[in-house]
Amino acid sequence: MNSSVSLDQLHAHLAQWGLRSFSSDADYFAWQRATLSAEDLNRLTAQVERKRSGARQDEMAFYDLTAEPHILPVLYSQRYEYFMEIGSRVLSRIAPAGTVLDFGCGVGILTTFYARHSPETQFVGIDRSPRSIAVAQSKATELGLTNVRFECLDVDVEVLRGSYDRIIATHALVQAEQDPGIPSRDWTTFERARDESQQAAFEQRIGIDVRLDQLSEMLSPGGWMVIFEKTRQLARRVPFQRALARRGLQVIELPELIRYRLVEEVSDDGPFYVMQQGSAGPLAWDEEPEPDAGVPFNRTMLRSVPHDPQDPDIPLYENHWPSAQRVWESLADRLVQQEETRRESDGRQLHVELGSAEGLVYLYCANTFDQRQLIVVEPNRRAELASYYGEILSS
Ligand SMILES: C[S@@+](CC[C@H](N)C(=O)[O-])C[C@H]1O[C@@H](n2cnc3c(N)ncnc32)[C@H](O)[C@@H]1O
Repeated sequence: MNSSVSLDQLHAHLAQWGLRSFSSDADYFAWQRATLSAEDLNRLTAQVERKRSGARQDEMAFYDLTAEPHILPVLYSQRYEYFMEIGSRVLSRIAPAGTVLDFGCGVGILTTFYARHSPETQFVGIDRSPRSIAVAQSKATELGLTNVRFECLDVDVEVLRGSYDRIIATHALVQAEQDPGIPSRDWTTFERARDESQQAAFEQRIGIDVRLDQLSEMLSPGGWMVIFEKTRQLARRVPFQRALARRGLQVIELPELIRYRLVEEVSDDGPFYVMQQGSAGPLAWDEEPEPDAGVPFNRTMLRSVPHDPQDPDIPLYENHWPSAQRVWESLADRLVQQEETRRESDGRQLHVELGSAEGLVYLYCANTFDQRQLIVVEPNRRAELASYYGEILSS
């Protein structure tokens, strides 16, 4: 964070927006019930559902609704920790910029925070939700900010102009949260083919093609782009990063995954990217799966979970993470007894295999959306794995 700005100031800023931090979901829902009517909640639920369709009008209607004065504090408080995590990180990357664009600024909760604490910098916040922009502008006036202005503009259909030393896009570029991304070449690898038409289709589907084209054009020489979107799964992360790289962007900091609490869930989100245009520096784009919690296969300490005599179903070894692939590859004397590879209705390739290795019996399951599962049991439990093998294939 900007050395002179403390997290307390970010808390105070959020409080000025009427946001509250909650110690429990129950507290949150009590406040929500006391503040919003059943009709408000029905409208919100219906609008969230419509937003899922990905249609532009539905998305805009959702953000317009959330900007209503009595809804805004309650709804945006769900993201209190998000604002703390992102607000602090972005602010510390602003100085010494002269000009900053906050794309998809929403109601301007973070834009006004950055502007307050970087008085020498000129900020522009843009968003296509007219109500959000009206709220942002009126809050900036209320806070006496003269170094920020807001514009209502849809980057998908209107041309953006200007040159900025920092371009920020946090939870703004990628609205298509359900898009699975692109599959790996086949079930044996996490690698994605370099297929231009598949990449272009992905960018178009989730709407980042035009957005990134426009934003990257406006970055001033030596300027930084700071991006934080929901692109954590490898199948989304790889094509998203390739989209950034295609616009000449290179990471200048190690991308960071950020964990924060929402109401009723914890989000492992991001990565948080800080990038510059130009030739590749010492940091390369990472297309590997994240390090995971899968334990190594150690022949002498086979049970990855403590053996529980009350639960005889526990296998000798189990790994449900991408690292299961390395373990499966390293199994000695692997002998496949049954296997099937097929294409599922959603296009993914699925492979299931039952075999023996190291005097034990294993089941390995892998698909082209990076899911892996390896189970190893004693030879006398082969029938159990055989039945699981059948279950996977029939499901
Ligand atoms: C989840 S809000 C994020 C707000 C803010 N960036 C934050 O971090 O809290 C996403 C915003 O992006 C805006 N947005 C999405 N697509 C846009 C586009 N093509 N042009 C302008 N704004 C857009 C939406 O209207 C919405 O207000």
